[in-house]
Amino acid sequence: MEQTLSIIKPDAVERNLGDEIKDIFIKNHLKIKDSKKIHISKEEASEFYKVHQSKPFYDALCSYLSSGPIIVMILEGENAIKENRRLMGATNPKEAEEGTIRKLYGISIDKNSVHGSDSLENAKKEINFFFKN
Ligand code: CMP
Repeated sequence: MEQTLSIIKPDAVERNLGDEIKDIFIKNHLKIKDSKKIHISKEEASEFYKVHQSKPFYDALCSYLSSGPIIVMILEGENAIKENRRLMGATNPKEAEEGTIRKLYGISIDKNSVHGSDSLENAKKEINFFFKN
């Protein structure tokens, strides 16, 4: 069984979409192994999104992720990384397929409601980042 990290971002938590989004994962055979609602600092967000540090949107991205509470989750299932990304849809909600989380709830490319790990290596790093034992 594969694990991946999912984040419900501030725009979705603010609109109380946490349970609706969790239901989508559960209905699609992704188990929520762990979940917590947290509010991270800009420094923590900068560390989390370090891979994007050379991008022009990096600073805004880190300010945004730390702007309000988020829900971080460990999802587990067969092909969990790919399956989560399929359920999320394209990064830009305008380009996301019908029925995907970002199409349903995303507001803009920044406020796109969810984050999901993009590879096995990053899934391990990202899970460890939020759920250190
Ligand atoms: P996420 O999957 O959390 O990973 C990085 C985030 O950067 C991405 O979702 C978007 O919300 C955000 N972002 C902002 N601008 C861009 C852009 N031009 N291209 C890609 N991602 C962007």
